[in-house]
Amino acid sequence: DRELFVSAPGKVILHGEHAVVHGKMALAVGLNLRTFIRIRPCKDDTVLINLPNIGTKLSWDVSQLQSLLPSFQDDPQNMEILKNFAGLTDGCKDTESLAVLAFLYLYLSIFGRDLPSVDVVVWSQLPTGAGLGSSAAYCVCLAAAMLTYCGRIADPMREEAKTSRWSQTELDLINQWAFQGEKVIHGNPSGVDNAVGTWGGALQYQSGRITPIERVPMLHILLTNTKVPRSTKVLVAGVKEKLLKFPDIIEPVLSSIHAISQECQRVLKEMTAGLSMDHYSVLEELIDINQHHLNVIGVGHPSLNTICRVTAERGLHSKLTGAGGGGCAVTLLRPDTDHTVVEAVKQELTDCGFQCWETSIGALG
Ligand code: PMV
Repeated sequence: DRELFVSAPGKVILHGEHAVVHGKMALAVGLNLRTFIRIRPCKDDTVLINLPNIGTKLSWDVSQLQSLLPSFQDDPQNMEILKNFAGLTDGCKDTESLAVLAFLYLYLSIFGRDLPSVDVVVWSQLPTGAGLGSSAAYCVCLAAAMLTYCGRIADPMREEAKTSRWSQTELDLINQWAFQGEKVIHGNPSGVDNAVGTWGGALQYQSGRITPIERVPMLHILLTNTKVPRSTKVLVAGVKEKLLKFPDIIEPVLSSIHAISQECQRVLKEMTAGLSMDHYSVLEELIDINQHHLNVIGVGHPSLNTICRVTAERGLHSKLTGAGGGGCAVTLLRPDTDHTVVEAVKQELTDCGFQCWETSIGALG
């Protein structure tokens, strides 16, 4: 009956965005900006969800939710049942209502017959809608906390536990439920974001197959959000159009991006055995080459060029991450990168209206 705490990382795509849509490999890594959940018993037969980041606080009587259960279990994909129940307007599609729907979906599915009174609060260091896997981190936290709360997976923090980690089978279960939550929020997601949230580290994905990579080093980065809104769908369509128009020109670029992901994976593996400054030089070159490729396929943006220029002036290397056309960029920091350099870059980028985080990738799941 004690309270449980779980956290999950966000994600960034290190290499392979867009190429992955055309059957090439991408490398996604855990981002050490995390989402946290606390779940604990609640008095008065109430279920309470508090999402301070989006200013949402809702509660229901357990008996109300219990009465919903038969029709929900008959048709769990029927979101109308949940929407009506959450007291949210029909067709309301904002972050807030989707987050609540995913919560109710997982609560009813995971607890099933025995709905407990719980008090849940979820807060996050991740911005929403920036391609950093914030909804997946949210779903991973909810799934892991609920599965642990009802005893379907062990509590790794309990005193008698032999290890402080979940087993692969338990992680699989967390990931599967997190994916269901992601579907409530996104419709038809690739499953990469929830896999990174669950396992952390780095993983490879290609043609729908997601393979965690054994061990990766934690790399220090500067993450910058241009805050320029972009549509992944429109950018993906643009690349497809270019590929159809100039197959002999664009296909080799996508193949080169594939080779960059492979080479990066090889270097990361080597780094776990002992890293040297030469490794960083290779990673930097790969970042530069890929950023040029991404410009070639038409997913760059002046705001991203600004980040590349400002960081390059101080000897740092950056590329866009995710869909491009705005959104976020990653800048690799070396262990010996001077702190005053990082501070100066952050100041300059902040003055451009961007938001920066000094953080790391390869974060634990
Ligand atoms: O915007 P994000 O970070 O979810 O990334 C989109 C990545 C693309 O390769 C452009 C699209 C995709 O579905 O893989």
